[in-house]
Amino acid sequence: MASLHESRFGFVHHCLILVLLSAFYFSCSSSVYVSDPPLSLDYYKKTCPTVLEIVRREMECAVLSDPRNAALILRLHFHDCFVQGCDGSVLLDDTITLQGEKKAPNNKDALKGFRILDRIKNLLESECPGIVSCADILTVAARDAVLLVGGPYWDVPLGRKDSRTVGYELSNTNLPTANDGLLSIISKFIYQGLSVTDMVALSGAHTIGMARCVNFRDRIYGDFPVTTAVDPLSMNYLKTLKSQCPPVGEDNKEAAMDYLTPNLFDNSFYHILLRGEGLINSDQELYTSAFALQTRKLVKKYAEDQVAFFEQFAESMVKLGNITEPDTFVDGEVRRNCRFVNT
Ligand code: HEM
Repeated sequence: MASLHESRFGFVHHCLILVLLSAFYFSCSSSVYVSDPPLSLDYYKKTCPTVLEIVRREMECAVLSDPRNAALILRLHFHDCFVQGCDGSVLLDDTITLQGEKKAPNNKDALKGFRILDRIKNLLESECPGIVSCADILTVAARDAVLLVGGPYWDVPLGRKDSRTVGYELSNTNLPTANDGLLSIISKFIYQGLSVTDMVALSGAHTIGMARCVNFRDRIYGDFPVTTAVDPLSMNYLKTLKSQCPPVGEDNKEAAMDYLTPNLFDNSFYHILLRGEGLINSDQELYTSAFALQTRKLVKKYAEDQVAFFEQFAESMVKLGNITEPDTFVDGEVRRNCRFVNT
């Protein structure tokens, strides 16, 4: 267990992991990763007992005013955790001395929802100043986001610290993209200590939210890494998508990733994959890729059994939220404003 954990930070190149991948791929059904720092469920019990209520109330308002906000917060949490661990680094604004992650190519124009976190942070700073980290706020807010649009509940271990650093370069290498092939995506999850099962379940997050034209253009106009011929977008669906996303321009125009129930957290994302109608290529790869032996089985399972999907999603979200970069906890702080490190 220890050696896997250590290797997480030792392997700089994903390609090295790919060499090991075949062994993992056929043997691992769940991650053996464990977080180092002492996260606990009652971390704020004495210092800020109302933290969970405050986050929930604000997330209720945010999701009620626009259900899309649930998707924005969930994605922010994912992009936080995959870059130097769940340390609030994604929330930092650019300054003269710091090039934040927000403008890294994989995040630019794609991450939103920061104001929701500012609001929650302000309330918590009035209630219990200097106590609750932005990383913890984001982790709890993501859990509440899922719950509020119909998804499962899970307990969130707390006690993360906020980083004083950002991972601009890591945002480019660690985050999966729409055009990544299946093996590349699996390797990026294994690098974080997450299994193939975690990856397929967490991809179910795409049951809510939108993707921009720039991320599905290659898919609808045929210029993508076709791995088998069995992933037809139905003609009508394709026609609609093409009318929303022209071959050139309109990069930021959006379409729902789950056109069946875009604002509901359910398992229809997997039904869509079974029909070959995944909006972004990397999602469809879970079912259609020539390497999709294990992932195809999981897609079918979650399509048939929403309870199994919810249980695994909750378990995998805890693992995602526990990803840590040990340095953050040594040098970490509780930011007073999520956008800037404390002076
Ligand atoms: C498996 C690899 C993944 C890939 C390749 C991927 C890629 C993407 C892409 C390309 C988009 C559209 C972004 C845009 O066009 O602006 C997106 C949206 C989204 N992703 Fe993922 N993602 C992955 C995993 C995850 C995970 C693990 C989560 C959360 C647990 C997540 C949550 C979301 C959400 C909620 C949205 C919608 C955001 C919105 O509505 O603005 N994704 N993802």
